[in-house]
Amino acid sequence: MKPNDTTEQQHSQYLKRCFQLARLGETYAFPNPIVGCVIVHNNEIIAEGFHKQYGEAHAEAHAIKSALEPYNLRALEPRLKESTIYVSLEPCSHTGKTPPCADLIIKHKFKRIVFSSSDPNPLVNSSDKIRAAGIEVIEPAELEPELVKQSDYLNRIFFKNIKEPGSAWVVVKIATTTDGEMITEANEPRWITNSESRKDVHRMRSCHDLLITSIRTVEADDPEYNVRHSAEELGLAEIKDPDIAILKSSTNLKNRNYKIFQSSKRKIIEAKVTDLKSTVKEFINLGYKRIMIEAGPKLSEAFIESGLVDEIVHYQASAIETKYPGFLLINSEIINSANEPVNTKRYFINTGS
Ligand SMILES: NC(=O)c1ccc[n+]([C@@H]2O[C@H](COP(=O)([O-])OP(=O)(O)OC[C@H]3O[C@@H](n4cnc5c(N)ncnc54)[C@H](OP(=O)(O)O)[C@@H]3O)[C@@H](O)[C@H]2O)c1
Repeated sequence: MKPNDTTEQQHSQYLKRCFQLARLGETYAFPNPIVGCVIVHNNEIIAEGFHKQYGEAHAEAHAIKSALEPYNLRALEPRLKESTIYVSLEPCSHTGKTPPCADLIIKHKFKRIVFSSSDPNPLVNSSDKIRAAGIEVIEPAELEPELVKQSDYLNRIFFKNIKEPGSAWVVVKIATTTDGEMITEANEPRWITNSESRKDVHRMRSCHDLLITSIRTVEADDPEYNVRHSAEELGLAEIKDPDIAILKSSTNLKNRNYKIFQSSKRKIIEAKVTDLKSTVKEFINLGYKRIMIEAGPKLSEAFIESGLVDEIVHYQASAIETKYPGFLLINSEIINSANEPVNTKRYFINTGS
C-alpha cells in the first residue's frame, strides 16, 4: 500500500457519501447545484447535510448546524477545529440568497476542507480565501480523476445553466431490446426493462420539470408518466411529478380520457410542432430548464437529430428480442450492444463532457 492510499480511500469514502446526500436534493435544489457535505472527526462522520431547496440553506450550513446541535454529543464545537469538512462542490464565497459558506468554514476554524468539484460561477472562488485563513484545502486537482468525474456529473445541469443561462438540459430516455428496438410488438405496450431501471426512470421524472411525449405514445400506451415510488425508494428527500408536453404535428388526441389527464396537480401542454428548436425555446421561456423526452422512436430520433439533446439515457434489455426487426432506430454509433440483463448507458451529446 502506498503511503497516501489510506488518505485517498478516506477522501473517496467520505466524498461518495457526499454524493449520496447531494442526490437527495435533486428534486427541488435547481437552479442551485445539488451538494452534499459531511464533517469527519477522528475518522468518524459527526454531522451531515445537503442542499434541499433552491434559495434555502446550503449543505455546509446544514452540516455545521447539525454538528452544533446540543443533542449531537459526538460533535461539540471544539471538535470542529480538529475536523475535516468534505463537500461535493466548492463552497460559495459570495452572498447570494444565503451568507457565504466559506465564511462559516473559516469562522469554525476547520482543520481541513476537501471538495470534489470546482464551481464555474465566477463569483465563487473560495479556495484562496479559506487557505489564507490557515485551513488546509484539498481541491479536485488533487483527487482521483474518476471521483471528480462522478462529482461533476452530479451537477451537469447546473454547470450548463451557468455557462449558457438561456438554455435547457435535454435528456432522451430510451429503452431498447438487444437488437435496438424500442417497440417489442407492433405498437403493443410492454415494459422492455426491469423494475430497477423503471425505478431509475421514475427518479429521473422527479428531477425534471417537463416530460415531453407524443400524441402517438399517449394513444398507444396510455402512460401515466408520474412518479409511483416513495421518495425514500428513489433516494430523494422529496418527489414531484413533472409537467407534461404532448407533441403533435398534424393530428389531435381522440379524447381526454387518457391517464395522463387524471392528475390535477400538474400542467399538461399540448403543442403543435413545426420545428423542435422553436418548441423547446418556448418551453424554456415558460421556465422549463430540465426537460426529459419519453416517446417512441420517431420523436426520440427527431430530437437527437435536431442537436437539442445533451444526454441519452439508454436502458437496454438483452433478454428480449423483437418480432419486427428493422422498425427503427437511432444510429448504431450511439447505441452499443450489451450483455447485461438490463444495461444503463448514459451518453453526452452536446456538452463535450
Ligand atoms: N422503448 C421506449 O423507450 C418507448 C418510450 C415511449 C414510447 N414507446 C413506444 O413507441 C410507440 C410510438 O412510437 P412512434 O414512433 O409511433 O411515435 P413517437 O415517436 O412517440 O411520436 C411520433 C409522433 O410525434 C409527433 N411529432 C411532433 N413533432 C414531431 C417531430 N418533429 N418529429 C417526429 N414526430 C413528431 C407526431 O405526431 P402526429 O401524429 O401529429 O404527426 C408523430 O406521429 C408506442 O408504441 C410506444 O409503446 C417506446
